Amino acid sequence: MRHLIHLPLCAAIVALFVVPAAAQNRGPGRGGRSSQLSPTVPKTESEKKILATLQSAVQAGETYANVPDSDGRMLRLMVEAMNARNVVEIGTSTGLSGLWFAMGLEKTGGHLTTFEMDPGRAATAREHFRKAGVERLVTIVMGDAHETIKRLKEPIDLVFIDADKEGYIDYLNKLLPLVRAGGIIAAHNVDMTPEYLAAVGKNPDLETVGISGGGGLALTLKKR
Ligand SMILES: C[S@@+](CC[C@H](N)C(=O)[O-])C[C@H]1O[C@@H](n2cnc3c(N)ncnc32)[C@H](O)[C@@H]1O
Repeated sequence: MRHLIHLPLCAAIVALFVVPAAAQNRGPGRGGRSSQLSPTVPKTESEKKILATLQSAVQAGETYANVPDSDGRMLRLMVEAMNARNVVEIGTSTGLSGLWFAMGLEKTGGHLTTFEMDPGRAATAREHFRKAGVERLVTIVMGDAHETIKRLKEPIDLVFIDADKEGYIDYLNKLLPLVRAGGIIAAHNVDMTPEYLAAVGKNPDLETVGISGGGGLALTLKKR
């Protein structure tokens, strides 16, 4: 079962497709358009703290090219649906996607390793993780991720590529061998990386869907 994409994940993906685009961008942080989708309601004290940190980061302008809430919610949902234990992110920025991941990882007992080359943004992310009480769930690796990801050795459940757009194929090539069968490679702003979409599209071991309504999220299943 661990090697198959889980049914709740499929259902969630379908649900996101049928929710109108304008309905997907609402929550505690970025994106407040009127919608049928209610904001994430915290179910635990920990979720409350994470959502409050997201909201205050946005209000304070401690942001840089972060995922909109709709995509953050999707990332969190995938972590829980897949029971992901080992999540890798390329492009930490100020840690907002990391906070969404952490919300899921609290449930799965997993860990996020996130790569960033900008010291100022990494410091802000570290502060957000501390404020949200999730710093134990996250490791920030500094430096050029094209080099630093070579240190990764463990099987990966979920990869999120959200850094230099011209680097997406290099990240894919370097990380794909580590992604377990049934694992997911999520890539952001894919409208800016047609060559990446072409590469995943022609690989017979991969299946890709696009999630509408957010920042352009492509989800690629590693089938074998
Ligand atoms: C789009 S932002 C990431 C947003 C973040 N995932 C979020 O949603 O909160 C891209 C980040 O990737 C970082 N970046 C770009 N090229 C990189 C590289 N080669 N190695 C490491 N980080 C890189 C940038 O400094 C920037 O902070």
